[in-house]
Amino acid sequence: MCVIALFALITAQCARATPPNFVLLFADDLGYGDLGCFGHPSSLTPNLDRLAAHGLRFTDFYVTSPVCSPSRAALLTGRYQTRSGIYPGVLYPASKGGLPLNETTIAEVLKSKGYTTAIVGKWHLGVGLNDTYLPTRQGFDNYLGIPYSHDQGPCQNLTCFPPDVKCYGFCDQGVVTVPLMFNENIKQQPADFLQLEKAYSEYATQFITDAVRNNRPFFLYYPSDHTHYPQYAGADYAGKSPRGPFGDALMEFDGTVGKILQTLEETGVINNTLVFFTGDNGPELMRKSRGGNAGLMKCGKGTTYEGGMREPAIAYWPGSIQPGVTRALASSLDILPSFAKLAGAALPDVQLDGVDMTNILLNHGASERQTIFYYPIAPSEKYSVFAVRWKNFKAHYYTQGAIHSENPQDSNCSSLFLKRYDPPLLYNLEADPSENYNLNSTEWDSVLKQIQAVKEQFEASMVFGENRQRLHVIPHMVTDHTSNNRCIPMKSR
Ligand SMILES: *[C@@H]1O[C@H](CO)[C@@H](O)[C@H](O)[C@H]1NC(C)=O
Ligand SMILES: *[C@@H]1O[C@H](CO)[C@@H](O)[C@H](O)[C@H]1NC(C)=O
Ligand SMILES: *[C@@H]1O[C@H](CO)[C@@H](O)[C@H](O)[C@H]1NC(C)=O
Ligand SMILES: *[C@@H]1O[C@H](CO)[C@@H](O)[C@H](O)[C@H]1NC(C)=O
Ligand SMILES: *[C@@H]1O[C@H](CO)[C@@H](O)[C@H](O)[C@H]1NC(C)=O
Ligand SMILES: *[C@@H]1O[C@H](CO)[C@@H](O)[C@H](O)[C@H]1NC(C)=O
Repeated sequence: MCVIALFALITAQCARATPPNFVLLFADDLGYGDLGCFGHPSSLTPNLDRLAAHGLRFTDFYVTSPVCSPSRAALLTGRYQTRSGIYPGVLYPASKGGLPLNETTIAEVLKSKGYTTAIVGKWHLGVGLNDTYLPTRQGFDNYLGIPYSHDQGPCQNLTCFPPDVKCYGFCDQGVVTVPLMFNENIKQQPADFLQLEKAYSEYATQFITDAVRNNRPFFLYYPSDHTHYPQYAGADYAGKSPRGPFGDALMEFDGTVGKILQTLEETGVINNTLVFFTGDNGPELMRKSRGGNAGLMKCGKGTTYEGGMREPAIAYWPGSIQPGVTRALASSLDILPSFAKLAGAALPDVQLDGVDMTNILLNHGASERQTIFYYPIAPSEKYSVFAVRWKNFKAHYYTQGAIHSENPQDSNCSSLFLKRYDPPLLYNLEADPSENYNLNSTEWDSVLKQIQAVKEQFEASMVFGENRQRLHVIPHMVTDHTSNNRCIPMKSR
């Protein structure tokens, strides 16, 4: 009996002593209403739906920016993009800047505990001269992917669906076609969209298999190019979704999620791996039926309305995270502190904006977070945050639409006119998640005062980092006038 008890004790301690693996799935331009498990009637997302059914689905999960690069900077550092300088807007292929190397990413935090790390997919935190800002310089041991958005190069002659359906639209002109990179080398240019997802899923599953074989804890970051414009899909998914090209792209992403889950099962680590899913920002409504859908949230990408920054999110960890739904307030900022906590890793010695959300994950408990701050595409010290959520209330100090969010139902989504509100517009997001009914009577004055106080406290803590994106371009990387300049210049080409 004593032996059995001792054995049980040892296994319990071993179980605790083994740090969990992490798989972070990050979709692109995916709206609150796009997944089957978030209510879309014709999206086919069986694997994400399975994560939701057997994991924890978040209803009130936010990113920090309504566009790509800043949202990713905050995700990987646990700090607002204003601190790291990833603003305004997004990085371009020829941008000189990138996420500063002295920022500590989730990958670097986990490497301190012996994790092996990989990123598969879209980086979009800079390339720079001589590969300065590639993910291989920010804690990722392995990289396969397109280093920025796959529309940041001409696409009118590229094939997006089999057998040879050209990509819809033109994408960015006057620059080179998008490359597929393997670590710091260009593997293919232009990237072959029909084979891309297959390459990603094979690379991701091989990475997991190798890590398990080598007995290493691992961190897999899979920021998918799906479902950003222009949508594409290979032969296994093209034409398979009732929702059309967007649905096919989403389904292909979901298929990779399924292959990752299957690999976690087959390698025996499914019960020791936390899988976390969310997306970078809201849907690009200007793409009409080829764009995503924010569900009942107002507007989409580029705006600080809920549709721009509230994202679907799911946490899955069989045996450790009980299935359910949480309305706890959470942010992409909270992923770094939570992974660090679960891995037993030290937090970086910087001002973090994220908080530990393991009480939500492991206990369905309360959130340590009471506020969400909404920065616009181009944050500035002058205008600061456009909106603040405090508990279930949201106050808009400014509103502005975005071209990305052009929407026939609501002209406010695309109106570029910057409107200031004093007193701010006030909504109760629990009673009115669509931000339709302004609580403009004096009975709400005390709520507005409280929000004003948390806003001022936040602003006092914010030090804007040097702007990394202001027109710093590398001239010879911009054009492809010469036929031999098909690749972005890289030392190791
Ligand atoms: C990184 O270095 C820059 C320039 O020296 C500095 O302003 C910034 O505060 C540093 N950031 C961190 C996170 O240490
Ligand atoms: C890039 O590499 C070239 C050639 O090795 C070197 O001359 C140049 O100084 C490097 N630039 C930067 C910013 O590191
Ligand atoms: C696309 O193909 C057309 C016809 O072959 C050609 O004229 C054009 O230059 C190509 N455009 C790009 C961006 O490759
Ligand atoms: C994971 O845990 C479940 C429930 O305890 C168990 O049925 C399953 O066999 C475990 N899977 C692996 C791969 O250990
Ligand atoms: C736009 O927003 C304002 C509040 O700022 C509101 O009064 C107006 O009705 C909105 N317009 C539409 C089309 O929803
Ligand atoms: C509050 O808003 C409603 C609808 O927008 C409007 O009819 C009403 O006059 C406003 N009340 C105040 C006190 O501004």
